[in-house]
Amino acid sequence: MQYAQITGWGKCVPPAVLSNADLATFMDTSDEWISSRTGIKERRICHVNFSDMATVAAQHALAAANLDASEIDLILLGSLTMDSLCPNTASIVQNAIGAHNAASIDINSACTGFLYGLHIANSLIQTGAHKKVLVIGGEFISHYMNWARRDVAVLFGDACGAVILEATNEKLGLLASRIGCEMDTTSAIQITNLGSAYSRLSDDFLYPDWNFEGQEVFKRAVKAMASACEEVLQQEGLSIDDVNIMVPHQANQRILDALAKRIGMPSDKVMVNVHKYGNTSAGTIPVALTEALEQSRVKPGDYVLMATFGAGLTWGAGLVKWGDRVSPVHQSDAELPPCKQTGLEILAPHIERYRAKAAAS
Ligand code: ACO
Repeated sequence: MQYAQITGWGKCVPPAVLSNADLATFMDTSDEWISSRTGIKERRICHVNFSDMATVAAQHALAAANLDASEIDLILLGSLTMDSLCPNTASIVQNAIGAHNAASIDINSACTGFLYGLHIANSLIQTGAHKKVLVIGGEFISHYMNWARRDVAVLFGDACGAVILEATNEKLGLLASRIGCEMDTTSAIQITNLGSAYSRLSDDFLYPDWNFEGQEVFKRAVKAMASACEEVLQQEGLSIDDVNIMVPHQANQRILDALAKRIGMPSDKVMVNVHKYGNTSAGTIPVALTEALEQSRVKPGDYVLMATFGAGLTWGAGLVKWGDRVSPVHQSDAELPPCKQTGLEILAPHIERYRAKAAAS
């Protein structure tokens, strides 16, 4: 039996910060509202292309695994904020890192893109079709935000993470996983005014907006993640007490608390960084996993439980058995080009563009 061990990990968090107080300078909100409803204090705003973040995260993961990019035979990139419709962004990252022996696939399942990627990579390694897979998850979601929408704009941020999966005979890596989709709620989270379903003749075309049913998503997310977690534990004949650390999708502190309570996971075993980055969609789990390793919260042989949900509504959970190595073999010095602007300065022309349109209509 082939297994797929996680041997490398890395993240890329853009430097420009947008705090709750910054948001309150241009929309009717407050640090008190955002902190108490979501736990988010600040988020990052990307000043480069999404593929630049993905490339840096991938370079860190490769160094951590002590691999040359030419050894990678498949790249799976989970995101909904790709550089362009064509070519796929996985191929742009492939070229940037020099992974000339890889195939490259984009996965668009919103926040679940990373876990969907992990599930697919693991299955392909088990069949013997691939041996060394780079799985990336991340988002440049500020690019698609309607900055006039306080109910959505305060929730999200930009970041990217990556892991390397390598074939092994040892029983390690993603031992159990379950992914799914509640197809009756496709409109609960929707980015509108972009894509071939929207008229190119409409004045709204290319002004992204959101359908967002926050409370519906909240309820469904907790239920779906809890039952997926129970299912993966059952697959391995384990109980929640066997889990050493949980690394869930970071959408909202209240969702994390509700999920932990529902499945009986003590809060001190739940990795949380939503206060620093907000919801970075497909980026949350690989970034949180990397930070859990940086903070020595993952120990050799640990069981790591992951759970996620996102637009679709897609959902999933995965149970990883960690190997012996919990520190990177090498550190990469890859980083984004410096950014001289603050988060607010980057966003200013985009906020103005929406204001001008609203004034004109
Ligand atoms: N600042 C101040 N007030 C606000 C803000 C804001 N940023 N946003 C909304 N409000 C107001 C509303 O207008 C409403 O006012 P009203 O009572 O006068 O009408 C009031 O606050 C309460 O709004 P609710 O929507 O009821 O607030 P709720 O407590 O449900 O919290 C939230 C909203 C945080 C969005 C919550 O429902 C949630 O976290 N849902 C999960 C959503 C999520 O994280 N999805 C992630 C998936 S996204 C993806 O996959 C791409």
